[in-house]
Amino acid sequence: MANATHFYLLCIFFISVSATVQSKVTDNPADELVAAINANRTASKSTSLYSNSGLACIALQYIKAFQGDCSVVGGPKAKRPADSEFAETFAPNCGVEVSTLAPITGRLLGCQSKYVKPSEAFSQILMKNEKSLEIVHSKNHSEVGAAVSGSDGGGPYFWCVLFSSGKSNSSFVPEGGVAKITRPGCFSGANDACSGAVALSRNLSLWPIALAGLISLMAFAFRV
Ligand SMILES: *[C@@H]1O[C@H](CO)[C@@H](O)[C@H](O)[C@H]1NC(C)=O
Ligand SMILES: *[C@@H]1O[C@H](CO)[C@@H](O)[C@H](O)[C@H]1NC(C)=O
Ligand SMILES: *[C@@H]1O[C@H](CO)[C@@H](O)[C@H](O)[C@H]1NC(C)=O
Ligand SMILES: *[C@@H]1O[C@H](CO)[C@@H](O)[C@H](O)[C@H]1NC(C)=O
Repeated sequence: MANATHFYLLCIFFISVSATVQSKVTDNPADELVAAINANRTASKSTSLYSNSGLACIALQYIKAFQGDCSVVGGPKAKRPADSEFAETFAPNCGVEVSTLAPITGRLLGCQSKYVKPSEAFSQILMKNEKSLEIVHSKNHSEVGAAVSGSDGGGPYFWCVLFSSGKSNSSFVPEGGVAKITRPGCFSGANDACSGAVALSRNLSLWPIALAGLISLMAFAFRV
């Protein structure tokens, strides 16, 4: 009897844990990353940055320029897209009017095979050294855009943050006011729920939970 109750409670626990994880993946991890950055800035008396969707869409294009190759992010073989790419490729892909491009005052890029929560991506992947934190806290920025993407719905996961000194409503302006949503990947500022980048993570993290739930359900069934 006590055992049956125990398993019954376990079932409820697993079902509710599954539900929590499921609702989490419908949030937008890029928006959560911007929130983490602004929280870190305001905690050290810097201003909160405007979340610009056009700039964020460009951050996603910036990621795509790496074609899923983690080995050229940071380190001795580090590559970065040519500055001309912003006007020639990234802005047009986002529907952002080239005449509204503003100076990029900072960029952060990180890549890892495993998907982690945005707050962990910030502290563990993007904040590698003192210089990264200086970039985050710089007074040169007025706006920010963040993006995260996996390749073909799986890893590796790229996180990109671009900072700009542009004016909020007159820089990185998309035609028609809304940046083009492209998948796979998520970007900040567009008020959309996005889980396109975390398909693999859902696959990996939900299965053990679902399986554990199933096992406890079966165990319960056999006991009754
Ligand atoms: C800001 O982020 C850095 C790097 O993760 C961390 O060391 C620092 O404690 C954070 N500052 C605040 C006020 O949270
Ligand atoms: C801010 O901009 C100035 C002038 O362009 C530059 O010298 C400085 O290094 C920038 N600061 C940071 C933290 O990037
Ligand atoms: C930009 O925003 C400011 C303040 O919110 C407003 O006064 C101005 O008219 C806006 N400009 C455009 C082009 O929307
Ligand atoms: C989920 O996992 C299976 C087996 O590990 C794999 O074949 C499949 O591609 C994964 N799905 C996604 C969306 O990553």
